[in-house]
Amino acid sequence: MPPREFVLYSRSGRTDGRFTDLHGAGRLDVVFQCALMSLYRSYALRQDVIFHALLNGPPDPPKEVVVDGSRLTDAPPDERSWNALLRHVLSGRPHPGIEVRRNSLQSLVRGRGDVFVLERGGEDIRTVELGDRPMFVIGDQVGLPKRDEEFALRHGTKVSLGGREYLAAQCACIINYVLDLREPRS
Ligand SMILES: C[S@@+](CC[C@H](N)C(=O)[O-])C[C@H]1O[C@@H](n2cnc3c(N)ncnc32)[C@H](O)[C@@H]1O
Repeated sequence: MPPREFVLYSRSGRTDGRFTDLHGAGRLDVVFQCALMSLYRSYALRQDVIFHALLNGPPDPPKEVVVDGSRLTDAPPDERSWNALLRHVLSGRPHPGIEVRRNSLQSLVRGRGDVFVLERGGEDIRTVELGDRPMFVIGDQVGLPKRDEEFALRHGTKVSLGGREYLAAQCACIINYVLDLREPRS
């Protein structure tokens, strides 16, 4: 299966490993929740998912944490494990399937097709042609900054999950479900 990609834009996510709780680290709990809903099923990792968290908090923004579901190992789907994992990689230490690099939303979406920006006022996801390698851009607990949203929209399309506002992680979960329903049952 070609990968489906999720991009969480975190305005405040901390960009080093010096923290104790995820919430206090610029809401890295939202990053954990989105990683969970993007990458895992029950007792299974989604091999066809790449999850990107763009972190824009102190002390060294911007940073991107990229998690490749086809290569990820030793990552149980619980908050305590992900707290340790995020501290580990944000301290510059390696982990299979996770990379930390300097990157921006602009360079992630530039030159790429099938970019979909999640917004309540967008086109209904149920009727949008999502292509083979969709990339979904999701705002954090505050939403996408206007400037970044405008840039992403020059390269993509607004899609909506309906009139109710969902948590960022719920958006990833719903999108996975919609895409799963479009695939032949295994
Ligand atoms: C918790 S919401 C952000 C709420 C924030 N108050 C705002 O106005 O953007 C997090 C993100 O989830 C996505 N989102 C939430 N509900 C949605 C919906 N019904 N359709 C599409 N995207 C949605 C958007 O990308 C949003 O930025």
